[in-house]
Amino acid sequence: MKSFLTLIGEEVASAFERAGYERDLGRVGVSNRPDLCEYQCNGAMAGAKRYKKNPMEIASAVAEELKSSKAFSMVEAAAPGFINLNADPAYIRDYAAGMQKSERFGVEKPEKPEMIVIDYGGPNVAKPLHVGHLRPAVIGESIKRIARYAGHTVIGDVHLGDWGMPMGQIITELQVRKPDLVYFDDTYEGDYPEEPPFDISELEEIYPHASGRCKTDEEYKAKALQATKELQAGRRGYRALWQHILKVSVTDLKRNYKRLDVDFDLWMGESDVDDLIPAMVQDMKDKGLAHISEGALVVDVTEESDKKEIPPCMVLKSDGAANYETTDLATLVWREREYKPDKVLYVVDKRQELHFVQVFRCARKCGIVRDDTGLEFIGFGTMNGPGGKPFKTRDGGVLRLSQLLDDIAESMYERIKEAGREDMSDEEAKETAEMTALAALKYGDLSNQASKDYIFDTERFTASEGDTGPYLLYTMARIRSILRKYEAEGGKQGELPVPADKAQKAIYMDMAGFVQMIGEAYAERAPHRVCAYLYQLSNDLNSFYHETKILTEEDQEKRAGYIALIAAALRIMEESIGLLGFKAPLRM
Ligand code: ARG
Repeated sequence: MKSFLTLIGEEVASAFERAGYERDLGRVGVSNRPDLCEYQCNGAMAGAKRYKKNPMEIASAVAEELKSSKAFSMVEAAAPGFINLNADPAYIRDYAAGMQKSERFGVEKPEKPEMIVIDYGGPNVAKPLHVGHLRPAVIGESIKRIARYAGHTVIGDVHLGDWGMPMGQIITELQVRKPDLVYFDDTYEGDYPEEPPFDISELEEIYPHASGRCKTDEEYKAKALQATKELQAGRRGYRALWQHILKVSVTDLKRNYKRLDVDFDLWMGESDVDDLIPAMVQDMKDKGLAHISEGALVVDVTEESDKKEIPPCMVLKSDGAANYETTDLATLVWREREYKPDKVLYVVDKRQELHFVQVFRCARKCGIVRDDTGLEFIGFGTMNGPGGKPFKTRDGGVLRLSQLLDDIAESMYERIKEAGREDMSDEEAKETAEMTALAALKYGDLSNQASKDYIFDTERFTASEGDTGPYLLYTMARIRSILRKYEAEGGKQGELPVPADKAQKAIYMDMAGFVQMIGEAYAERAPHRVCAYLYQLSNDLNSFYHETKILTEEDQEKRAGYIALIAAALRIMEESIGLLGFKAPLRM
């Protein structure tokens, strides 16, 4: 379906045309003076310049032409040249009814659906997920779902950090602690054990220990570098150990992402493209694009229009090893080969922007991607703790993501218990708490513009009133409860009613804005658009609920109409929270 704004915009454009002006002046937006009208067109003002006329004269002529339109119940030219509009109640009702009947509420497939790879999550093997990993997972997952909803083919890739120095550090530390392990025996030729020689908690303790020691102990650091090199060169025992590290860590990562309802199509890592590096580098050399600078192999990526200096992209370190740029470039080689994506989106900490500028330019210059492949860096800001300081545990350590979720779920659970919900089993209470916690966490994050830093305020995010995830869920639960009661009383499904007052009209206007909202959320890669949409719809639903006797309405047809209206809005809410990556409990 066309978006509602497009549809009524076409009406206004035709009116401009009939009045003797160009159609493009007929663009319509939601009114920024809702006290005066619902929609507005400012085209007469632009037309005044173009035609050297008084804007009011144009507005009045167009308004006159619009009087016959079925789309509007009120058309008015207002000084100095606005065209104020109210949608015709039956017209907007019919639009909403059409949405309910169409697939994805009227969001059409684009003419040419794109193949999009989205790189998000970006955890590093052997490091537990901490609060810093929340944003890439939550934002990336939402953008992926929005892009799919907008009709594109989207592949999500976790892009594991599994190939660098941390691997060598872990191997080195293991050798210190367990020197007798067969993996360190050069003469060993048999198969290696299937059981890993450590579990996840040991692994998670080893890594920070080893990385800390590298900072103070040069000899140890040299060993770790050597181990990294030998691992990458294919030393058998190290490869086997590394496989264990990967397996143990990925199992744990998958469990954590599952709890977050974050789901990757690909679990590729930096290591997976290692074998593509030699040919890629050779090609860069053959094309004369890579040269040695201070021992390292680099590609110049400056452009004339640069305001600040962009350093060359390092393709191989001076010891010939791959670095972060190398693996990202080789990953693009792989993605191009497998998917020929129209776009590759990277949801990564905005502090990595320079890295991506270098990688994107290098990839384009070297022909790794096509000229029209869209490479996009979606940089997100930092999530801070209370007072705007980095998020820490009470004793100053990094806070695990699972701990943060546990804490919030626990407090949601206590709230349910305090409310004395005897009708709710303990199991349901726990499940509800977990769902509400996830909504609080994700909505708290996504309702901010991704590029901005924000403060994670548990108190605020978990509040049942205000611009929060739980508020949406309460609104939905309230509607569900009404629907249940209605059904229990034997109420029948009715038709969507023609809105009879402002409160109902507001809900229709929200619903009618869905297609537009999805278009904008996708185009701007902006989950916060979905959040703002949901918040508005929730507010309007609650106003309606407070102003209207729904279940006690005596006119049976009216009652059935109210029910149809809130049921329709509920479906849209469900769909929309799905785009943010959470679900609503059936009751709260
Ligand atoms: N593992 C990286 C880090 O912790 C993030 C990966 C982001 N994605 C990418 N293609 N570089 O910083």
